[in-house]
Amino acid sequence: MSNIVSVTDKILVVGGGRMGSAIIDGWLKQGVTPDSIYLIDNNPETLKVYANKGLHTFESTENVPLGLEFKVFLLALKPQIIVKHISQFNQFISPSTCLVSVAAGVMVQTLLDMLPNAQHVVRVMPNTPAMIGKGVLVGFSESRSMFSKLIEELFASLGTFYWVSNEKQMHSVTAISGSGPAYLFYFAQCFIESAQALDLDNEFAKALALDTLAGAARLIEESGIDVETLRQNVTSPNGTTQAGLEALMCNHELKDRIEACCVAARQRSVELA
Ligand SMILES: NC(=O)c1ccc[n+]([C@@H]2O[C@H](COP(=O)([O-])OP(=O)(O)OC[C@H]3O[C@@H](n4cnc5c(N)ncnc54)[C@H](OP(=O)(O)O)[C@@H]3O)[C@@H](O)[C@H]2O)c1
Repeated sequence: MSNIVSVTDKILVVGGGRMGSAIIDGWLKQGVTPDSIYLIDNNPETLKVYANKGLHTFESTENVPLGLEFKVFLLALKPQIIVKHISQFNQFISPSTCLVSVAAGVMVQTLLDMLPNAQHVVRVMPNTPAMIGKGVLVGFSESRSMFSKLIEELFASLGTFYWVSNEKQMHSVTAISGSGPAYLFYFAQCFIESAQALDLDNEFAKALALDTLAGAARLIEESGIDVETLRQNVTSPNGTTQAGLEALMCNHELKDRIEACCVAARQRSVELA
């Protein structure tokens, strides 16, 4: 990894919040040198954490030394902030900078309009498991460029990386892999609370629920068996699992809710565009 972004290549990150920090932490774990990362964020606590890790940190654009050339500019601000505040970052973009935006719903054309210096723009939809190298990261750019390989390598180091060829697909990607961890955390919360309601000690109930989820996810990953077969394999006729599943799958209510959840997230991404 340290070979991918050489010590002389600089990465500018604007926004070290939940997603910016997940990506920075992932890169640091993969061997990107802290000295190559420049972070602009208006939160002093965030800056302190990353200054301690050896990054160059700045509270505003005025503090960034003049004349720095950035190979990658990672834009990790909220879409609402981007629309109002990003023109100030145009000065950090040169023809040899690749602008990477992780903002949900903000289209390539919008970025090009607001940052006229940008010639190479890639949108990447990450998710927070990127911070432990287990992310799903999906890229879109209008054409393959000299940066495509670098972007693949930088983001594949944080998990599994895919390209999509149509920008509209980024709305669906956002709804599934971008927002997906939150849905699964909610499922985990419901599972924990249900376990606790079954006369088990709270901590033990939580451990049973979470270890079961983690084990099942690992089995999906490692067995290569499709999820329907995995479910059928553990469902004996008239057994306890069947009784539980009949309650869970009753009237397809859960399936309908999950569909509604994904459609609502996709719609929100369209609205933000
Ligand atoms: N979180 C996710 O799971 C996820 C998944 C996929 C994509 N994304 C995308 O990632 C982007 C960032 O989301 P997030 O959840 O990481 O947001 P966040 O936690 O709010 O992080 C944004 C960071 O930028 C700082 N900031 C705000 N305005 C600034 C400015 N003008 N200059 C410099 N720094 C500024 C914020 O500081 P203050 O808090 O002090 O304002 C905060 O530290 C969004 O566009 C989102 O669509 C997020």
